[in-house]
Amino acid sequence: MRRSLTGIKPTNLPHVGNYLGAIRPAIALAERFESFLFIADYHALTTVRDAEEMRRHTYDVAASWLACGLDPERVHLYRQSDVTEVFELTWVLSCLIATGQLERGVSYKDALAKGEAPNAGVFNYPVLMAADILLYDADVVPVGKDQLQHLELARDVAARFNHLFGEDLLRVPEAHISEAPLVPGLDGQKMSKSKGNSIPLFDSAKKLRKVVMKIVTGSESLEEPKVAEGSTVYEMYRLVASEADAAEMKRQLEEGGYGWGHAKQALSEALEAEIGPKRERFEALRSDEAELDRILQAGADRVRPIALRTLDRVRAAVGMRVRG
Ligand code: TRP
Repeated sequence: MRRSLTGIKPTNLPHVGNYLGAIRPAIALAERFESFLFIADYHALTTVRDAEEMRRHTYDVAASWLACGLDPERVHLYRQSDVTEVFELTWVLSCLIATGQLERGVSYKDALAKGEAPNAGVFNYPVLMAADILLYDADVVPVGKDQLQHLELARDVAARFNHLFGEDLLRVPEAHISEAPLVPGLDGQKMSKSKGNSIPLFDSAKKLRKVVMKIVTGSESLEEPKVAEGSTVYEMYRLVASEADAAEMKRQLEEGGYGWGHAKQALSEALEAEIGPKRERFEALRSDEAELDRILQAGADRVRPIALRTLDRVRAAVGMRVRG
């Protein structure tokens, strides 16, 4: 089976945007691929400065994905930091990447443009990400558009390695541009924790409803016809309701006599139907950190042999002793 691989930075408790835009599509993709899904804690370390926060969000992410249906027997779920071999490959790759290419990195450039003084981790971020991918011979990497440049770099460095040291040593991965929609937040912009416009995934049903009611809508009267498409309420409803129900909401909005309040009510019910059963699983999983550790470690133990085999090939190719 072809391999897909994705990393998730443990920088927040997953919200509805993460669920609809990343978690749900990745779990669907796992049906067709041998999936590698890891918590990119060393990538998060470029910004997270609090051990408690790192630990908490690591468990939050693991418990959320598991609660949403990820089967740890089928998907390799692990912490990036549990397979330290990734750093050995990071070094080898960094010796093949021109600093100029990293200087053109979008995140690094953005940080400079904002007048920040980015740390070297931000600069080297794409190299570690390339190692994450190449270490496991991933065929496809599902990414959002914001990660495309990183993936290009991973492809470049793999091809360069093969060119210099021997064909087919490293698998050149393909980007799989997510068809997952951009999930709008309360204000209609892309949902993100930093924008303060997100809807919590596993808060109480009551809180969920309260937050949905805060979604910004037009100010048309109840009677007036409304444009469904492009409205945050309808666009989000479409992602959770059946096609027939979504078509019905569209019709009602366009016809008039159906208010944004009605639409929000329908949305909060549809979200609750989707999330409610997962919330209970989340609570059970999240309250047992020892069990989460066990699952993550079992995942790391399963993938490490693959990492070691890749490193053996790489070490032999560049003239290091093969440990066997
Ligand atoms: N950079 C990715 C992000 O911010 C996370 C990540 C780290 C990743 N390593 C990866 C994604 C490898 C895909 C493959 O979302």
